[in-house]
Amino acid sequence: MILTSRFILNSSTGAADESDKVHYRIHPFVHETSNMLSWQDALKEVRFPDVDPAETPEDGGQMSFGAGEFLDLYTEAKWHAVATCFFIDTAHNVIDYVQKIFQILRPGGLWINNGPLMYHFANTEEMSLELSWEELKSVILATGFELELEESEKCRYVENPASLLSQEFKTILFTARKPL
Ligand SMILES: C[S@@+](CC[C@H](N)C(=O)[O-])C[C@H]1O[C@@H](n2cnc3c(N)ncnc32)[C@H](O)[C@@H]1O
Repeated sequence: MILTSRFILNSSTGAADESDKVHYRIHPFVHETSNMLSWQDALKEVRFPDVDPAETPEDGGQMSFGAGEFLDLYTEAKWHAVATCFFIDTAHNVIDYVQKIFQILRPGGLWINNGPLMYHFANTEEMSLELSWEELKSVILATGFELELEESEKCRYVENPASLLSQEFKTILFTARKPL
C-alpha cells in the first residue's frame, strides 16, 4: 500500500478521465478464476489516478506522508483531526491506539473512524486484545473522549464488484472529540 501510494502521489500526474493526460491502466481482477459471471469481468480495466494528485484545493492545503509504526510516528498534540479507516483493528492492543489518538489531538480535536473490528492478530501466536465494540466504546469514553456520532455502515472492501462472491462488513462509523 505504501509503495503504491508513493507512486501515485509522487510519480503520476493527471486524472484518468482526462484523456489528454498521463494515466495508468491495470487489470486488478485478472488472476480471479472463481465466481465469475463472465471472463470479461476478470479483464476489467481500472485507470488511475482518478483525481490529479498534483492539484491542491483552491484554499491551499498541505499533505505529508508518514511511513512507520503509528504509535511511534506521532508524538505532538498538534492535530485538529485524526481519521482512521479500516485501521484500528490492526493493533496488538487497540487501547494503545485510543490513547495515542487522544494524546496527539489538540483540545477540541476530532477523531473520525470507520471500519470493522477484524483484529489482525486474532488466532495468531502474537499478542492480541480483541475488544467488542461495547468494550472499546467504554475505553474511548474512559480515555476522555466525548462520542458525538455512532452509526453502523454496510461496507465492502477491496473486491471485484462483479464477482458472484461478496463480503459485506457492518463497520462502525463514529466521531469522538477530545474536550476543550
Ligand atoms: C486494512 S489496511 C487499511 C488501509 C486504508 N486506510 C484503507 O482504508 O484502504 C490497514 C493499513 O494499516 C497499516 N498498519 C497496520 N499496522 C500499522 C501500524 N502499527 N502502524 C502504521 N500502520 C499500520 C497497514 O500497513 C495497512 O496499510
